[in-house]
Amino acid sequence: MKVLQIDSSSTGAASVSRELTAAVVNALRQVDPALEVRYRDLVAQPPAHLDGALLQSLRPQPGAELSGDAEFVKQAAYTDELLNEFLAADVIVVGAPMYNFSVPSQLKAWIDRVAQAGKTFRYTANGPEGLAGGKKVVIVSSRGGKYAGTSIETLLDHQESYLRALFGFFGITDISVLRAEGVALGAEARAEAVAEALAQTGLLVEELAAA
Ligand SMILES: Cc1cc2nc3c(=O)[nH]c(=O)nc-3n(C[C@H](O)[C@H](O)[C@H](O)COP(=O)(O)O)c2cc1C
Repeated sequence: MKVLQIDSSSTGAASVSRELTAAVVNALRQVDPALEVRYRDLVAQPPAHLDGALLQSLRPQPGAELSGDAEFVKQAAYTDELLNEFLAADVIVVGAPMYNFSVPSQLKAWIDRVAQAGKTFRYTANGPEGLAGGKKVVIVSSRGGKYAGTSIETLLDHQESYLRALFGFFGITDISVLRAEGVALGAEARAEAVAEALAQTGLLVEELAAA
């Protein structure tokens, strides 16, 4: 099984989502010792935001030429690397802290690179069609407040709901969420949230391996 582990938290060793993505991958390794893991740290190596030159390579306009600028060439090669490792993975474990009700901008920049017509989705006469089906995604969600099942969830959760919609758009239907929330509500609340999430990794991984 090929796993792509993605981290996007900027809090380094103090990160809840980083601890949990590592726990999921370690648990998967127990089940499958031959697990192939590709690790992508989007904070250590952040994809640049889209600009005109990158857009020209991703969504070419007729008549316009590709930039020969060294930084563009580097970023275009990085796009291919990000896309190829995503397409090659059977399971994607994506660490996604909630930042301002959405995902960190490094993760959004990753999405802007892998969302490519003809590669991860396409438009047909019957509407959009995902091209990356058959994979499994684990969204590792960490957030300071509590949202799940509350009255503010629909209004304020543009993190888990966004990622579910995005991977669904790519054709991926097997999406699970490992969540630690309320981590900003004090040390005890944080420890409880992390412990609960860690306790769920075993079952989650059994389900992943069985499906
Ligand atoms: C820039 C920033 C923005 C944040 N925005 C929110 C937010 O909108 N809602 C929330 O519940 N928590 C918010 N938090 C708290 C984080 O979601 C929480 O600390 C989470 O554990 C971060 O993940 P990490 O521990 O992997 O870094 C924010 C934290 C940071 C650093």
